[in-house]
Amino acid sequence: MVQASAPGKCILFGEHAVVYGQPAVAVAIDQRMTVSFQLSEEWRIDGMKFNNKKHPHVEALRERLWENGPPLSIKISGDIPPASGLGSSASLSVAAAAGLRCSRGRNILDDDWAEGWTASRPNDVYNGPGTATKGDYVENGAQSVDEDECAILAHAVEAFAQGGKASPLDSSTCSHGGCIVLSDKVESDLVWLYSRELNGVRWEVHSVTLPKELEEAYLVIGSTGVHAPTSIQVSKVAKMLEDSPERMAEIETIGIVARRGISALMNGDLDAMGKAMSENHLILRNLGLSCPELESLISAAAPSSLGVKLTGAGGGGCIVALTKDPKTTSEAIELAGGRTLISSIGASGMSIDSDENCPLWNPLK
Ligand code: MEV
Repeated sequence: MVQASAPGKCILFGEHAVVYGQPAVAVAIDQRMTVSFQLSEEWRIDGMKFNNKKHPHVEALRERLWENGPPLSIKISGDIPPASGLGSSASLSVAAAAGLRCSRGRNILDDDWAEGWTASRPNDVYNGPGTATKGDYVENGAQSVDEDECAILAHAVEAFAQGGKASPLDSSTCSHGGCIVLSDKVESDLVWLYSRELNGVRWEVHSVTLPKELEEAYLVIGSTGVHAPTSIQVSKVAKMLEDSPERMAEIETIGIVARRGISALMNGDLDAMGKAMSENHLILRNLGLSCPELESLISAAAPSSLGVKLTGAGGGGCIVALTKDPKTTSEAIELAGGRTLISSIGASGMSIDSDENCPLWNPLK
């Protein structure tokens, strides 16, 4: 059996503005999705017959990584609430990409990967088995899996599900873990990972080594239980900017606040970080992205937090509070009717948790 998992994510600064190329920051959270794969007589998912319409993310990955492969029984579990802005779909896509890649091993030629994607062999991930010939196949289970490749596959699948408009923030954070910063330029004081481009927008993707001061604080995530699809919220902003182009200034201001947040985070200045989060929220609220349920959880969390804001697409979904007293903050949010999750800042990225009997399929045989 092959089993892989990936964390969810929480955006600290810059949601929505990132779609227009402004900087944004997300961290991986302790909550994860786990996907397991086993050979089977027929395609099954959680014990039921596989329905590709019900599982578009898994279907899109099956087409890319398992075309003509034998049927699998897939099991999905996890503690990330769906459709809440915490990256449940990106996390699932990353874990499924990692699990399928591990299940089929990888073709290796002259010490280089002959299929898939690496930084040295840019972006032929969609080309399938590539140029390797028989004896080049290496059954190397977990070692055949690469974070960059899982991130790019998950981004492709997310973009497809979000009607073409998706930044790589969720997919990269769920794959690499830790803290990911997107920007319109390469930031010299951050670790640059790669560039991504979609529909004319280009993002430079970086990782940040988190200072140890951040270990003193927690994220308390409060869910309103109100479902607001990301695609609708993203279209709402697009329409507003089309009708009132001058409001692009507010999107740019989010970028300025996000930059302040990035330096606070890198300096381990929790107070300044919290302040930037609350400021970021005010701009999102002015853009019409909050709702009464979010505002009520924010008011409840504010007294015991360093900063609090909506996180993700808004209109419902979740808030995130930065706090040194997670118990008090969590109780206050629950009293106001929210459901809470507590996470450390910057959990670990995707992992292969079992590669027993690998490969499940050798595509060259
Ligand atoms: C959704 O988690 C974040 C948005 O900025 C959309 C995106 O980045 O694709 C609203």
